[in-house]
Amino acid sequence: MTDDLSGASARFWEDFYRERPAAWSGKPNSLLVEEVSDLTPGTASDLGCGQGGDAIWLASLGWQVTAADVSATALAFAADRAAAAGVTEAIEWERHDLALSFPSGTFDLVCACYLHSPVRMPRERVLRSAAGAVAPGGALVVVGHAGSPSWSEPHPEIHFPTPQEVLDDLALPAGQWEVKRSDFATRQLRGPDGEPATRPDNVLRVGRLGG
Ligand SMILES: C[S@@+](CC[C@H](N)C(=O)[O-])C[C@H]1O[C@@H](n2cnc3c(N)ncnc32)[C@H](O)[C@@H]1O
Repeated sequence: MTDDLSGASARFWEDFYRERPAAWSGKPNSLLVEEVSDLTPGTASDLGCGQGGDAIWLASLGWQVTAADVSATALAFAADRAAAAGVTEAIEWERHDLALSFPSGTFDLVCACYLHSPVRMPRERVLRSAAGAVAPGGALVVVGHAGSPSWSEPHPEIHFPTPQEVLDDLALPAGQWEVKRSDFATRQLRGPDGEPATRPDNVLRVGRLGG
């Protein structure tokens, strides 16, 4: 695990979660649910797990989960929710700045949902490490923003990668992976005043051959 968690990512996300204890929806990300529901539970790693909605949902299905985030506050909150859901034994919560350290081992599923940060983070490198942590026969699921939400003006200075760019940046070795899904999805959500809104996302699911 990371020794020095005094960096900018840790500071930003600690403040974020301390100020928003009620950010918790209690629900897994719908696009992750779409991609994982047909998989047989095994071991999973959830990168940038936040308050643990996805990890707890995976554990409730029988996955043995290692969930990582840079925020100790988010991880403590998530562990409490896991206890309330009766899945404490099925989840290891690990604090990592993923730019500096990474959960050890390989997993049948590695997922990263909305692993974005206003603090500089080498997302492409982190996602390449994520692919490297997929066991033969396992899957990598990456869900991310593909644009601004409908209530906000577009920000031309922010580049949201396309699904193809996310895939290309993984630099997967030829012949060792199968692309199961690489496309855009429109997510329904609520705007700042509770109004119905949408946000474009991208979804990538690749399977590592073998196993
Ligand atoms: C937009 S939130 C998404 C949280 C969760 N996956 C979800 O979908 O609700 C991004 C998450 O990534 C985490 N994160 C950002 N930078 C990180 C880093 N360098 N190392 C580890 N986690 C990081 C944040 O703490 C935060 O929980």
